[in-house]
Amino acid sequence: MGAGDLYYDPYDVAIDADPYPVYRRLRDEAPLYHNERLDFWGLSRYDDVAAALKDLKRLTSTKGDILEVVQAAPVMPPGIFINEDPPLHTIHRALVSRMFTPKKIKALEEKIRAFCAACLDPLVDEGRFDFVLDLGAELPMRTIGMLFGIPDSEQPSLRSTAQRALRNQPGKPLPVTKEKYFDGGNYGEYVKWRVDNPSDDIITELLTLEFTDLSGMVRKLTRQEVQIFVGVIAGAGVETTGRLFGWMGKVLAEHPDQRAGLVADPTLIPRAVEELLRYEPPGPHVARYVTEDVEYHGQTVPAGSALLLMLSSANHDERQFPDPERFDIHRDFSQLVTFGIGAHFCLGAGLARLEGRIALEEVLKRFPTWEIDVAAARRAPTSTVRGWDSMPALVG
Ligand code: HEM
Repeated sequence: MGAGDLYYDPYDVAIDADPYPVYRRLRDEAPLYHNERLDFWGLSRYDDVAAALKDLKRLTSTKGDILEVVQAAPVMPPGIFINEDPPLHTIHRALVSRMFTPKKIKALEEKIRAFCAACLDPLVDEGRFDFVLDLGAELPMRTIGMLFGIPDSEQPSLRSTAQRALRNQPGKPLPVTKEKYFDGGNYGEYVKWRVDNPSDDIITELLTLEFTDLSGMVRKLTRQEVQIFVGVIAGAGVETTGRLFGWMGKVLAEHPDQRAGLVADPTLIPRAVEELLRYEPPGPHVARYVTEDVEYHGQTVPAGSALLLMLSSANHDERQFPDPERFDIHRDFSQLVTFGIGAHFCLGAGLARLEGRIALEEVLKRFPTWEIDVAAARRAPTSTVRGWDSMPALVG
């Protein structure tokens, strides 16, 4: 239960600016938190969050994994596999996971590097560049556009659809109306286009592969199902990964010695990306719908409740990460919850890590030092993904 003046509102812009002091109090004083006004429960300690992510029996993903969606408990169209439970989820995830193997991800490295060069080279003599507008807004969209085989001209529309799905007004939940939440943008047209123009890309692969569905029938995915899969991948992979880059610019500018260490020894870059993902996770929380009464810390969370799993707090739990508020690229750990855990573990984690590593390598090659133009940095008004709309860096 909330203790005294302890209050946590995931939409509160002031808390969102620096949620870590509140998270610490939640972990210490109310490890099971109940916000009666906003009608949700929350877990903030690493062990509790990790256990809840694995608890497929009492916590379901079928009502959504964003707090306000879980509370509205809409009827999900079939195929949104991030919002399915096993056994259906297992079947659908298997279809997509074969497209995200480490070998397939690794094969993208040179193309991603070329994208980064194309984004950054024109800016080398400009004296400034923007970690979000020049990298975060471009690279994840282009990478997914490349996987889908979507022409360059269509990619801004891919991004704006993915972005619309996760954008809320400052201080307010997402509008969970059918039109807004299930807005598929141009995804249907991409699928139709690939039906007529098959090629070596994920959409074509999804359209052609055969699988055994839940009824035991061997069949292909329908166009509608492929469109939904495309929406899930774009929705999960564009805005989240984009947020990483704003934090990269800000946090490394605040730790110039560690940034110099990366310039001197670029083999440390993968660790730095991992520490960034721990320190400022692009997705601060996921939610689950409680299907049967469940007890945490001696309190019962009743069936039918919405339960918020605070990933950012878990990543800062001193019970798991010593001195968690210290950013340290030499930290050695492997237990992040940034990408979830278990059945719904992020399918794009390898891709996001690859994009982060290559982008940082390419930035540091061109701009070994920078300062943030703090007055011009702009916060993104979102609660499902946390970060910046602009992070301008002054270089040289
Ligand atoms: C699932 C975070 C990048 C595709 C998830 C989950 C989290 C997450 C926390 C689990 C959700 C849950 O348990 O309810 C992130 C973060 C990213 C990132 C922080 C970037 C830094 C990507 C990318 C892609 C992607 C680049 C694809 C290209 C997916 C998919 C799922 C997922 C398809 C659903 C998996 C399933 O339900 O089986 N992600 N993600 N993500 N992510 Fe990511």
